[in-house]
Amino acid sequence: MSAPAGTTAVRTQSPSPSKFERAIVVGASSGMGAEIAKQVAAEGAVVALVGRRKPELEAVASAIRAAGGKAIVAAHDVTAYEDVPRVFEALSREMGGLDLLVYSSGAQYNPEESVYDFAQDREMIEVNVIGAIAWTQMAAAAFEAQRGGTIVGISSIAGERGRRTMPGYTTSKAAMSTWMEALRNRISRYGVNVVTIKPGFVDTAKTAHLAKKPMVISPATAATLILKAAHKGGSPSVFVPGQWGLVALIIRHIPSFLFRKLNL
Ligand SMILES: NC(=O)c1ccc[n+]([C@@H]2O[C@H](COP(=O)([O-])OP(=O)(O)OC[C@H]3O[C@@H](n4cnc5c(N)ncnc54)[C@H](OP(=O)(O)O)[C@@H]3O)[C@@H](O)[C@H]2O)c1
Repeated sequence: MSAPAGTTAVRTQSPSPSKFERAIVVGASSGMGAEIAKQVAAEGAVVALVGRRKPELEAVASAIRAAGGKAIVAAHDVTAYEDVPRVFEALSREMGGLDLLVYSSGAQYNPEESVYDFAQDREMIEVNVIGAIAWTQMAAAAFEAQRGGTIVGISSIAGERGRRTMPGYTTSKAAMSTWMEALRNRISRYGVNVVTIKPGFVDTAKTAHLAKKPMVISPATAATLILKAAHKGGSPSVFVPGQWGLVALIIRHIPSFLFRKLNL
């Protein structure tokens, strides 16, 4: 049914996107982003791979093409915010449109006790928050206008609390999760899905330094679960794998005076 003249057609629920045809993956040169790019290409989508390391992006693109898929590459630093509209529009144009944007770029530093490093904290805010805002905002505007599309942002359970071992990272992921929630509340009425992913431990460069990684999964398994959530549509925050939801619930409810004693 069409909307009356002078009003905007507003959907109350986002549809479940059964198939993605054109996707941009920001942070596709390694880890979960690279695996998401490969798997969405295997589903039949043409995929634009974005990141700073061109050789790594080309290697992912070659693997996609060798498997019969389609991929294009754009070397880009997400902190070059003024370039984002140009890169976004050029890639969307080249693919003939867009129905999925995945933001997987992330910076993470875990400073030693008593170390305060502004440069590292700034980079985490710039990549994990401002870069995410710059990229997802472009997709939000395009998807609102076309009345459909899916935005996936990889945040973290780390953002559930301010942790003494990683103040800058936990702050950045809390901000990213809040941004994604606000975007969802703003545009789900236009049939746009906004999915926040909060993974537990995934075996990537980000966790290589850790001696203990409980319930760790491979980037390929994480990518499969992330794409499943993206296809489901209308999802709020999704914990990957699902049992991390219980861990997050417990973490959220530990009283402050106890939480500050934990080595988290
Ligand atoms: N691994 C885990 O256990 C885990 C858990 C929770 C959340 N996460 C989050 O998951 C996301 C993906 O991380 P990952 O584990 O898959 O690690 P990863 O392999 O290190 O991937 C990080 C990606 O971010 C990109 N990136 C970093 N800085 C960038 C910049 N300035 N401009 C453009 N791209 C940039 C990297 O590409 P270039 O270096 O080529 O630019 C790379 O593709 C991150 O946001 C991370 O915080 C990871």
